[in-house]
Amino acid sequence: MAAKRQFVSVVGARPQFVKLAPICQAFAGLDAVQHHIVHTGQHYDATMSKVFFEELAIPAPDTNLNVGSGGHGEQTGRMLSELEALFNKTTPDAVIVYGDTNSTLAACLAAVKLHLPVAHVEAGLRSFNRAMPEEINRVATDHCADRLYAPTPTGLQNLTNENLQQRSVFSGDVMRDTVIRNLAIAGQRGAGRYASDERYGVLTLHRPVNTDPDVLPALLHELDAIAQRTMPLLFPVHPRIRLVVEGCQSSFKALRAVEPLAYLDMLVAVKHAGLVITDSGGLQKEAAFVDTPCVTLRDETEWTETVDIGVNVLSGTGSSEIEASVSAALEVAFDDNVARALDQHFGSGTAAKTIVEDLVDHF
Ligand code: UD1
Repeated sequence: MAAKRQFVSVVGARPQFVKLAPICQAFAGLDAVQHHIVHTGQHYDATMSKVFFEELAIPAPDTNLNVGSGGHGEQTGRMLSELEALFNKTTPDAVIVYGDTNSTLAACLAAVKLHLPVAHVEAGLRSFNRAMPEEINRVATDHCADRLYAPTPTGLQNLTNENLQQRSVFSGDVMRDTVIRNLAIAGQRGAGRYASDERYGVLTLHRPVNTDPDVLPALLHELDAIAQRTMPLLFPVHPRIRLVVEGCQSSFKALRAVEPLAYLDMLVAVKHAGLVITDSGGLQKEAAFVDTPCVTLRDETEWTETVDIGVNVLSGTGSSEIEASVSAALEVAFDDNVARALDQHFGSGTAAKTIVEDLVDHF
């Protein structure tokens, strides 16, 4: 009997678990291949990791490298050497990497240097802002990987512009697969304890441009004032900013700081919210997928379609711009045209199937 082909997915940070879940499900029905999971340990708090594996029914990782936090070089370097040792031992037939974190880059580099084929899920995204560590991770990963799965036509165009079209496939967005699948499940599991009957919004912040201790207190003060004028904001706090938030929390009147939310609770909270304010990439789309308008606290986005479709307003971080962007977002109407445009740009929930079929064909 022929040996089964071995695919290994490497993940480490919260948004990667959301992307991995539908890929695991698509692999689950296949007899001819085995799919393994390596967790680098970049995110390690239960609320940032374990709860995502449980809620999204992701099999427990076969290996956890437990690298933890650190400076970019230190963290990426630790992953690189651990992954190299692991791949040398296990020699998978292909390595699958996700998104744009330090775990993505480390796994890609470790694999290509050992001449192992690499596939990149969520390829081709560009902010064109080289000050973002994620932008460097994306560009380096796309240029080293062998098979590139673009979640959007814009992503595919970016890859074409960089002469990578021969390795590239438009797959649709695996995060949309996860939203579609889990909206129904969230209802059955009684998720949504943070959704409330009163009108409220959801706020998240984690990018250095907003969370630097020199800027964060003033930004939070600003957002609290906007929340008092519009609607209270539920604010799940990323661990990297916990201390600063605790330092100014006592002055909040309309920001409600809580621990990071598990996936299903967050999905329901966003679905029932009147507004999302965020600097996250994934949340901009998740808001659009559940018909909630979004204000993005950045100068640029990799998900330009959400802005073009008219459901996401880019505010930058200046105070008058945020106020004006919130007013504009509160006018957004979700109609059939928006739904059609989202299907066209992000696919309609079959991205993981497309990717896994292509992986099995190609490698
Ligand atoms: C990382 C990704 C970012 C992604 C984000 C999602 C990179 C360069 N950045 O950023 O693209 O959008 O994940 O959250 O890979 N911490 C904890 N517990 C944890 C994880 C982190 O306390 O489980 C704290 C530590 O103080 C750590 C800090 O958060 O130093 C930052 O974590 P890190 O993984 O380096 O980056 P993120 O900001 O989470």
